[in-house]
Amino acid sequence: MSATPPTTTVGQSTNIAWHAASVDRPTRAQQRGHRSAILWFTGLSGAGKSTLANAVNGALFERGLACYVLDGDNIRHGLCKDLGFSDADREENIRRIGEVSKLFLDAGIVVLTAFVSPFKADRDKARALVEAGDFIEIHCAADLDVCEERDTKGLYAKARAGAIKDFTGISSPYEAPENPELKVDTGSQSLEACVAQVIGHLEGKGLMAA
Ligand code: ADX
Repeated sequence: MSATPPTTTVGQSTNIAWHAASVDRPTRAQQRGHRSAILWFTGLSGAGKSTLANAVNGALFERGLACYVLDGDNIRHGLCKDLGFSDADREENIRRIGEVSKLFLDAGIVVLTAFVSPFKADRDKARALVEAGDFIEIHCAADLDVCEERDTKGLYAKARAGAIKDFTGISSPYEAPENPELKVDTGSQSLEACVAQVIGHLEGKGLMAA
């Protein structure tokens, strides 16, 4: 008779057992020819997170890397459509994205997340889910006045008029990273310069190879 596998309790899940994967991350990296990583873009709405993440994604894709963007606005159309913008809902949003990113990491994919992720504690929890070196925090550091001036989605005007509550930078805080792996001046630099800075960092860290 075979041994009964050990079961455990995690959160609300009782009697569950971990099933080991048949293909592990190093094997995937070897086959693909590059490591996986989480590139965590954080910054105010309108700072250019999605634009930069997508441009970096394009550059990585052109070089043959397996990569994928998780974008805040898009994820809120599906996986996180049950969440709003209270502190607790943002915490849950970032918790889910941290866990999903960890799965992408294990799948051998460079995952680029573009979320405001305004709270340091929530970003740090996402970082703590993975090994040191796997989480690269990229602060898209455009000032509030620049983002508000751009107002690409018209949301700052609505927030100032009181039509949107808990709006980051206006009526909800943004805690800038203290020690991000990378700080990119998306407020005044060109997109090309920002992409080059991120790619240069990844090359420097040896993240483009297995
Ligand atoms: S997060 O704070 O939970 O990380 P997320 O990145 O998913 O936020 O979503 C932010 C996007 O939702 C913004 O780019 C903006 O388009 C939109 N949005 C709508 N309401 C708000 C709000 N109250 N605060 C910030 N962004 C908002």
